[in-house]
Amino acid sequence: MRAIVLEKFGGLDSLVYTEIPEPEPLEGHVVIEIKAFGINHAEMHMRRGEWAEAASVSGIECVGIVKSCPGGEFAVGAKVAALMGGLGRTINGSYAQFTRAPVSNVALIESDLPWAQLAAIPETYATAWTCLFRNLEIKQGQTVVIRGATSSFGQAAVNLAVNAGANVIATTRSEARFAKLEALGASRVELEGPDLSKRIAEAKEIDAVLDLVGNSTILDSLAMLRRGGRACLAGWLGGLAPIADFNPLLQMTSGVHLTFFGSFVFGTPGFPVSDVPLQAIAADIAAGRFDATPSRVFSFDEIHEAHRVMEANEANGKMVVVH
Ligand SMILES: NC(=O)c1ccc[n+]([C@@H]2O[C@H](COP(=O)([O-])OP(=O)(O)OC[C@H]3O[C@@H](n4cnc5c(N)ncnc54)[C@H](OP(=O)(O)O)[C@@H]3O)[C@@H](O)[C@H]2O)c1
Repeated sequence: MRAIVLEKFGGLDSLVYTEIPEPEPLEGHVVIEIKAFGINHAEMHMRRGEWAEAASVSGIECVGIVKSCPGGEFAVGAKVAALMGGLGRTINGSYAQFTRAPVSNVALIESDLPWAQLAAIPETYATAWTCLFRNLEIKQGQTVVIRGATSSFGQAAVNLAVNAGANVIATTRSEARFAKLEALGASRVELEGPDLSKRIAEAKEIDAVLDLVGNSTILDSLAMLRRGGRACLAGWLGGLAPIADFNPLLQMTSGVHLTFFGSFVFGTPGFPVSDVPLQAIAADIAAGRFDATPSRVFSFDEIHEAHRVMEANEANGKMVVVH
């Protein structure tokens, strides 16, 4: 089969097209004929050698058709999504014609949406859904701040939160992008910055914050919450540096909750992929309740361009590759 392998760590030329054997059927696993896959920051970090683990074939998610499933958990020919479970990290991932994912990390995604559209869903929407409805437990009518909302993760979170009836305040560093977030249904857009808690009119009244800017803003996010409010740290757009000189006694807000989510836990006990209503999310998109159209669609031969756009921060949303 055709595959894109990581020949070395480094720039775009590290990703090399080649032929490798197709994965064989294996108990507890699903061989998937890949129709499309999303592009993720994690794959850029793996390409550069910045992560502890990187498999020869990159790619942490895909959508496609079941080719074999010896345990019978999924029918041959079923439409499925696969995400995490070591894909692209400890086992060969989705930058290929076929992949073999653990059963625990595969979900049915029966839908008539085009493959490019389906490919925008698994990792991004599963993570956004889990942060909003499990970690933050947002409810209809609550006020939620989404920091870093123009990212593909942020846009998915805005879509899901608005669709759930939350009042969403979204942030971006660029006034030119306010209109885009308003179009997604944000009730207001604020300019992102480390002092947001001091500027926001609803200070101390916010029910929840989904913080994708990261370690540099999470303490500020806690400072804008009402008593009992929650902040979820789940993105690091502002950089990976730790919180400098963190002293809870002097810096923590009383009576609020800090929570964290990393999608690498999907498929482990306590975090089954089946917890996430991927099928219902696909149905919401098909019904036009929100728009999850990928910002860019590349062919399999265009992986270098896809990585270049991601690295240049020009994605403007979720990017996908179709076969
Ligand atoms: N927890 C998890 O499991 C999980 C899963 C997936 C992704 N992530 C993380 O979530 C974040 C978003 O990922 P993504 O793929 O959705 O990103 P993306 O689409 O590439 O995000 C691009 C956006 O990031 C914003 N941005 C860039 N630099 C920034 C900075 N210094 N401060 C604030 N905003 C900045 C820009 O927004 P503006 O220019 O409009 O401000 C830009 O629109 C990443 O940190 C990623 O690693 C976490």
